[in-house]
Amino acid sequence: MSEHSPLTVPDRLRVLVESGIALSSELSLDSLLRKLIETAAELTGAQYGALGVIDATGMALEQFITVGIDAEARAVIGDLPRGRGILGVLIRERETLRLTDLSQDPRSVGFPPGHPPMRSFLGVPIRLRGVVFGNLYLTEKAGGEQFSDDDEEIVRLLAAQAAVAIENARLYESARQWSRQLESLNEISEALVTEVDLSHLLDLAVTRLRELLGCRVVLIERPAGDGGLVVEAVSGEEGTQLLGLRLEVARSKSGRALTRRRSERVDALIDDPEVDQAAPRLVDATSGLFVPLVVREKAIGIIVAYDKIGTDTRFSDADMRIAEAFANRAAVALELADRVGRESVRALLEGQELERSRLARELHDETGQALASILLGLKALERDVGEEPLVQLRGLVASALGDVRRLTVELRPPALDDFGLQAALERLTTVLAERSSTETHLNVSVQSLPPAYETALYRIVQEALTNVIKHANATSVSVVVTQSDTSVRCVIEDNGEGFSTAAVRAGALGLVGMRERLNLLGGRLEIQSSPGRGTTLLAELPLDQ
Ligand SMILES: Nc1ncnc2c1ncn2[C@@H]1O[C@H](COP(=O)(O)OP(=O)(O)O)[C@@H](O)[C@H]1O
Ligand SMILES: [Mg+2]
Repeated sequence: MSEHSPLTVPDRLRVLVESGIALSSELSLDSLLRKLIETAAELTGAQYGALGVIDATGMALEQFITVGIDAEARAVIGDLPRGRGILGVLIRERETLRLTDLSQDPRSVGFPPGHPPMRSFLGVPIRLRGVVFGNLYLTEKAGGEQFSDDDEEIVRLLAAQAAVAIENARLYESARQWSRQLESLNEISEALVTEVDLSHLLDLAVTRLRELLGCRVVLIERPAGDGGLVVEAVSGEEGTQLLGLRLEVARSKSGRALTRRRSERVDALIDDPEVDQAAPRLVDATSGLFVPLVVREKAIGIIVAYDKIGTDTRFSDADMRIAEAFANRAAVALELADRVGRESVRALLEGQELERSRLARELHDETGQALASILLGLKALERDVGEEPLVQLRGLVASALGDVRRLTVELRPPALDDFGLQAALERLTTVLAERSSTETHLNVSVQSLPPAYETALYRIVQEALTNVIKHANATSVSVVVTQSDTSVRCVIEDNGEGFSTAAVRAGALGLVGMRERLNLLGGRLEIQSSPGRGTTLLAELPLDQ
């Protein structure tokens, strides 16, 4: 470069324009920077050129690219400059700096051994919209000359072009990353739509999103029957303790994001009054991303991500976009799995009811009738052979008949199909009352309900009363079924021992089954109980107006 004869002004302009084109077509940041230094050296006749990229702190160099110094000399010089001395001055002051003799400046810290002599110096900041990306340094102008005003002017122009190009390259880099993420996003959505098992799907979603974002913990919360939110799936080592955690919609960021159906990014969780601190505290999280799962305008859950991995735990706009794109796909898959799941539960329950009804009729019509006629026959025999030997036999048959009647009612009372809910419930309470000392009150005031509702309510009362007899140790229980324009409500209240809903043994299916049946029909179950205070169950089903 130093051997270049000084360029004329038109030549310089030509090089400048050409370099502008070359720079803007160069998308790899490294080769772009190298080209830039070469052009600057060529334009000014400098023997050495360098470019320092300033790091995130804005106070030190993160990269230092040189031109004109061969590999051998570089090896001798050793470490790259750390941004002290004259380079430090340029980094701090962000202004152009021109010196006659670098080594004579009082702010210089001197050169390391093996460093080639450098006297004349021109340093120009590379800045765009007030942000300084780095500095361009040129030294040792050919022929021992000084850098001129023209040199300064031209290097500034070059630096301005370079700033745009550097920004482009950085944007390009982030766009490439974005497209890589989109690619994996597509892969994931395929996996999501082929998975119909709900719990697998939830696990898959949190695992994949955590990989995609590169963060510590991802979880999915979904609305529980009682209006709260429950953590249903977690990915991330420290996250497992969050499983099952309950949050209130009105008092958590998740709840707010769910209601607003808008995602939110929180850089400092601790400072946000809307955040329920329980969850982040458990995993020691500092920043979070809250993205609702929305299908057809309805929020069906929320994805929460905690802490990017690395020194900066905050999430970026790009992270939020990727999480939203992910959530859109996951929401559709979840809804699908939910529907498939419900369909199969519904089909199963319907199948069970049919089968029960068939068995019940058979027991009643065939076995029951047969036993009844045996009983009549025994009566006739009694007259002939005398009472004595037959008493015992008759007792046995009578009790078998009683069993058959009870079983019939429990399986599926013909009364439910033939005379409706009220008759069936009356039969049920009578039969159960025979088996226990709990006083039972029944009050049903409903018009005709859809058959699915009648079955559901019947099964719920049946399970609830069985629970009272089995667990409550109550002296009385009341069952009240009422109907309004908008819903049918069934309240079952006992004065027994009560229980803590949090301490229900795992594997208990009664209460779960009740909730399932109600959910299927768009209804809900509320349980009020505490040890020593009795239990009240409220089952509510919506009615179409
Ligand atoms: N009315 C009640 N009074 C007291 N405890 C109850 C009552 N209903 C339910 N429970 C408690 O809740 C638990 C779960 O009930 P459930 O889901 O029906 O299962 P299971 O009856 O098979 O134990 C019971 O084991 C019992 O401890
Ligand atoms: Mg039970």
